[in-house]
Amino acid sequence: MTADLLGRPLRDLRLSVTDRCNLRCSYCMPGEAYTWLPRPDLLTFEELSRLVDAFTLVGVDEVRLTGGEPLLRRDLARLVRLLAEKPAVREVAITTNGVLLAEQQADLRAAGLSRFTVSLDTLRPERFLAITRRDDLARVLGGIRSVAGTPGLKLDAVVVRGENDDELVDLLAFAREVGAELRFIEYMDVGGARRWSMDRVVSRAEMLARVTAALGPLEPLPGRGSAPAARFRLPDGASFGVVASTTQPFCRACDRSRVTADGVWLLCLYATRGVDLRGPLRAGDSVEALAARLRVGWQARDDRGAELRLGLPDRGARPLASAGDLDADPHLEMHTRGG
Ligand code: 5AD
Ligand code: SF4
Repeated sequence: MTADLLGRPLRDLRLSVTDRCNLRCSYCMPGEAYTWLPRPDLLTFEELSRLVDAFTLVGVDEVRLTGGEPLLRRDLARLVRLLAEKPAVREVAITTNGVLLAEQQADLRAAGLSRFTVSLDTLRPERFLAITRRDDLARVLGGIRSVAGTPGLKLDAVVVRGENDDELVDLLAFAREVGAELRFIEYMDVGGARRWSMDRVVSRAEMLARVTAALGPLEPLPGRGSAPAARFRLPDGASFGVVASTTQPFCRACDRSRVTADGVWLLCLYATRGVDLRGPLRAGDSVEALAARLRVGWQARDDRGAELRLGLPDRGARPLASAGDLDADPHLEMHTRGG
């Protein structure tokens, strides 16, 4: 096993397949204009497949496809098949906003995609429009219904004070109806969250208090390994999770890393710099040579970005990155990092 400087293994790989998105969520892409990654820099499916081979040599057994919005990448099912066929890859999962899900889910499942996570912050059309600047709630709900009841289905809701924090109970009821586990996610100040401030964060403690007040006492459930969500059972038997990335970071157990669509390897969601893998890939590095680079990189990893951020004296005063920083380097953006 390859461990980093804090003894953490590398297991979970999040592959961003595009930095484009068909929504403009207020907590992720509040801006008007964006600097996109140059198209020729995007890794091809064959390059991504070789990269995953290298990651599996260092311990990765689960790949999650992310974006931007991954379903915008043409012919994504072909990539899913390439990855799912690898004996060392136990699972290929996806995080999507659901807009294009109904039309693509059958092909993706046939190609070997095993689990869906769909973002869903609200059940109210006018609010969806206000949060995402697109009038697509009906398509998202249709997308979710098209995968209802599939094993491991999750719905992720970023909770922002004053935007959707009065919908926790409604979202729980909807998740139950479609056979999904809902996860409430604390608003984070990564990348493009230019409107972030600490007073708009609804903490895990506050979310739990609100759910308890409405639905009754919660039973804490054992976590699933290094999964970041703390899970709870409701009195009606349904379970849900809370990802407290902001107020109770889980850096000490973090076994994940990310690759941007142009092949920059990020060892932490808060990292300001990454390791270029596109260069070596295109220069003809073998899978073993790539794996050796990954091993060296991981062994030097001491990142615990969310924890350090929480300890800063000006915590809460302003978002992490300025608009100027973000324009100068799109790799800082959450929609480039894949959430
Ligand atoms: N805070 C928390 N989660 C975020 N995401 C994007 N931006 C933020 C943010 N500022 C996550 C959401 C979304 C996924 C694609 O990325 O969970 O569903
Ligand atoms: Fe919203 Fe996800 Fe698109 Fe960001 S990448 S704007 S969170 S749908």
